[in-house]
Amino acid sequence: MPLMPAVALERVTRRFPSRGGERGRDIVALDGVSLTVAAGGIFGLLGPNGAGKTTLLRLVSTLLVPSRGRIAVMGRDTRRDPASVRRRIGAVLGGERSVYWRLSGRENLLYAGALHDLPFRVAADRADELLRLVALTDRADDLVERYSSGMRQRLALARALVHDPALLILDEPTAGLDPQAAAEVRTLLAALARDGGRTVLIATHNLDEADRLCGTVAILDRGRLVALDRPDALKARLRADERTGGAPTLEAVFLALTGRSLSAADQPAWPP
Ligand SMILES: Nc1ncnc2c1ncn2[C@@H]1O[C@H](COP(=O)(O)OP(=O)(O)O)[C@@H](O)[C@H]1O
Ligand SMILES: [Mg+2]
Repeated sequence: MPLMPAVALERVTRRFPSRGGERGRDIVALDGVSLTVAAGGIFGLLGPNGAGKTTLLRLVSTLLVPSRGRIAVMGRDTRRDPASVRRRIGAVLGGERSVYWRLSGRENLLYAGALHDLPFRVAADRADELLRLVALTDRADDLVERYSSGMRQRLALARALVHDPALLILDEPTAGLDPQAAAEVRTLLAALARDGGRTVLIATHNLDEADRLCGTVAILDRGRLVALDRPDALKARLRADERTGGAPTLEAVFLALTGRSLSAADQPAWPP
């Protein structure tokens, strides 16, 4: 019997009312997306700004409900059983804003432990262990406002892991980080996905990151799923198409699938 997928979306559509308010002119952030995320490893959602990546992650995290279709996280329906889903996931959707800057790193983790009903002793031990994992032991008792962006992002990761969730959900985990800090976060994610059979679901508009980190990539464009495969398989398919000379890249895959280059598509939505 195949393992239960970590996440399954079945024809998921999510609309937002447009500012004009007329129903016919709703914004369709996700448009009939079906996909499954297998348990274990790192799954990447790739696409330009406005593609629907954050909306998909908020739906999986139970922060939004689908307009149509349904979503299961480890077999639990996000709409019927959100509390059960929330116990099994850890999400960082707000980047370094996901932690309290006026608290220390350790206090952030103890507070998160309390929210998950961990006994204080258990939370304290867990905090020590996570601080070590994200290399913040030396700075554990400094206020987060003194941290660098990379340190805050690593703390946000630790905070999402306090209750040892089976699924970790991260929105653009390296956005705004310098190359060194981004590399540290990627190393951490690879280690997290390697041990314990945890599943990591990330959104990124960084092709290189998706290529290096993710076992499977879903490409979203304007709310639609345009491809889903291993990065090397996507590139191999392109090679078979003989559309490119030289080594194919995911950028070339995106171009072939959508007729636009990712960087050209990656403009802020207008009107903003
Ligand atoms: N709360 C909201 N209200 C109205 N429109 C929204 C809302 N959230 C997202 N959108 C719109 O949905 C589309 C997809 O956005 P988003 O999921 O943030 O894309 P991405 O994360 O890939 O950049 C965009 O057009 C965005 O403007
Ligand atoms: Mg986004």
